[in-house]
Amino acid sequence: MKSNASIFMLSQLTYRSAEKSVPPHAVTIALEAKIDALVSLMTLEEKIGQMTQVRHFDDIKPKDIKNKHIGSVIHTQGGKPGTSAKKWQKLFKSLQKKALKTRLGIPLLFGVDAIHGQNTFEGATIFPHNIGMGATRNPSLVEAAGKITALEAQATGFNWVFSPCVAIPYNEKWGRVYEAFSENTNLTSELTTASIKGHQGTLSDPTTVLATAKHFIGDGATDFGIEGGDCTLSTKELNQHLLPPYQAAVAAGVGSVMASFNTLSKKPMHAHKQLITDTLKNDMGFDGIVLTDWKGYSRFGENKIINAGVDMVMAVDGDLDDFQNGLKAGVESGKVSIDRIDDAVRRILRQKFRLNLFDNPYALKSLRKQIGSPQHRAIAKQAVRESLVLLKNKKQTLPISKITSKIVVVGEHANNTGLQSGGWTVNWQGTKENYKGATSILDGIRKQSEGTVVYDKDASAQHFDADIAIIVVGETPYAEFFGDIGNGKGTYKLNLSKQHKEYIKTYKNKVKKIVVLLISGRPLVTTTQINLSDAFVAAWLPGSEGDGIAEVLFGESNFVGKLPHSWPKFIKDCQKKYGPNNWNNSIKPLFPYGFGLQYKN
Ligand code: GLC
Repeated sequence: MKSNASIFMLSQLTYRSAEKSVPPHAVTIALEAKIDALVSLMTLEEKIGQMTQVRHFDDIKPKDIKNKHIGSVIHTQGGKPGTSAKKWQKLFKSLQKKALKTRLGIPLLFGVDAIHGQNTFEGATIFPHNIGMGATRNPSLVEAAGKITALEAQATGFNWVFSPCVAIPYNEKWGRVYEAFSENTNLTSELTTASIKGHQGTLSDPTTVLATAKHFIGDGATDFGIEGGDCTLSTKELNQHLLPPYQAAVAAGVGSVMASFNTLSKKPMHAHKQLITDTLKNDMGFDGIVLTDWKGYSRFGENKIINAGVDMVMAVDGDLDDFQNGLKAGVESGKVSIDRIDDAVRRILRQKFRLNLFDNPYALKSLRKQIGSPQHRAIAKQAVRESLVLLKNKKQTLPISKITSKIVVVGEHANNTGLQSGGWTVNWQGTKENYKGATSILDGIRKQSEGTVVYDKDASAQHFDADIAIIVVGETPYAEFFGDIGNGKGTYKLNLSKQHKEYIKTYKNKVKKIVVLLISGRPLVTTTQINLSDAFVAAWLPGSEGDGIAEVLFGESNFVGKLPHSWPKFIKDCQKKYGPNNWNNSIKPLFPYGFGLQYKN
């Protein structure tokens, strides 16, 4: 009688020897045979364990990897394994070793919110947030960013990132507009494909990771832009505007889809069997992992979400035992079929085999030296340049001459790389400090100018003898519901703060030319400020390479960015269920989707 392990090893051998020179369908057959062989050996506890994702801190002790048959580990705010990539890889390698020592030795998936670079690791290359990547309209640049993010995620021990967010934001009041590419469905679908291709590559390559299309579905289209609110779109609208990016993601072979916090006409998306199983899995042929969002089991119906088609549960923050015991009881009582469990486990194992984790379970040490490399930062700086959108340029105020005698740079956002990067940077809610490896907007201006450059942090120094004032204003970092406007949780507004409006008023009519740079995660109502300025640039959330902005301001590169969102004219434009957008011109924007000026040659 062959032991379980030897049966499994035999299936591995047949698969590996076969995969070299046989057509794809035979590789698939061999892969599915391997999955079948492994599933047939698993106990119910081991299967439920594979469906379990936990934080490497707070949720488990290291012995739980074995005792609770854990299938995936997530890294989030609070659990930094140290400051060096070596320490990060060491921690996850120690957990992986524990998984490989279990009865069947199924390797772990390690997941992280690397949504604009490996942004949880200080020193990584940080790209413009997706709204800026949307403004570039450059799929090859988005693919390159995905590739670099994947490599730097592997370099810190991860093989799965929870990116890209493929939402279609309907209202600027939503606190996550910047995580998505655009209000335009076609552009979002195109950049989704590029992002997944960049992150996943062939998947078996040790520099690639599993990508995640999120949040399925309707996250950006809730009434009044409330995070986790109710989306009341018709099925027709949902199919026309929200579903195509997921169709693109599935066609690109995305390894996972994350369920969304919002409800759809009052039904929790996590428990929406028709959309998760019937539409996403059966109609669209998605064969990857449907993952819950944070603590999704206890928040959205427990075993109902498994029966709806969820395959893996973020069993965090006290949910672990309730999930594992609750699902076991569900199967034993017949309320959850073993076929549903086996389908979930097969999907999880399929991605682990595709990632080649059984042969290469550990991240490569050699990748660590590439974190934040000049080559990676050069690509990120190109993204910064191409993301900038020129909204006004009266009398060719821009480009600024390098020999301008005196330039005053105003505002705290000009000299703070944390403020220029937005949420999900170093910390979940971002940082208000400079961080390792990043360059500020002021750094870039100083590098470009051959004249005098002075800095006036809060417009109190009043350098009225300057030839030009570059005034940098905008939003402080936020993530998720903290960035919502008007629902009582956040403190953000649709227009600039009084202080930032004062910066512009202080220098208006005192200095010949005023250039305003807006650092924001969304279009803001800035009609007055645009009228007061000679030139106005939407710079979004540029990330670590802030010096790329000056290369365009001084004319080394031309503006190429185009608005990924319609730009509101009045506050009331965003007070309805939805803001101005390019498929419903019931609200006339100040600038339409796709607007963007360039230098006259
Ligand atoms: C958060 C977000 C999701 C993220 C997850 C893990 O609540 O909604 O985008 O990937 O939890 O941090």
